[in-house]
Amino acid sequence: MNWNRFIRQAHRWVSMVFLIAVGFATWAAFTGQSEESMLYYLPLPPLFLLMASGAYLLVLPWWSRGRRGDVAD
Ligand code: HEM
Repeated sequence: MNWNRFIRQAHRWVSMVFLIAVGFATWAAFTGQSEESMLYYLPLPPLFLLMASGAYLLVLPWWSRGRRGDVAD
């Protein structure tokens, strides 16, 4: 599989995991779970993955234009 395509698909799947994690954290907040609950930190790992893959997707058009002289996929 094409590497750019793989990163884009990974970004899409991790974004769904992130939304579910935000759902759990919101539920924890609304039901008054203890502040030490790990549920509050659950969205952070997928968020870091999204930041990394998102930054890659962001620079991709400029990067591949400079490299190949055409538009990125
Ligand atoms: C945290 C920093 C993030 C950065 C820098 C970032 C950046 C990007 C970039 C540059 C694209 C490609 C846009 C395009 O070429 O059309 C993209 C696509 C996308 N992003 Fe993010 N993103 C981030 C976080 C998120 C989050 C939090 C979500 C959702 C909860 C998300 C969901 C998506 C989805 C669904 C796409 C479309 C992917 C596809 O092509 O199917 N991103 N993002």
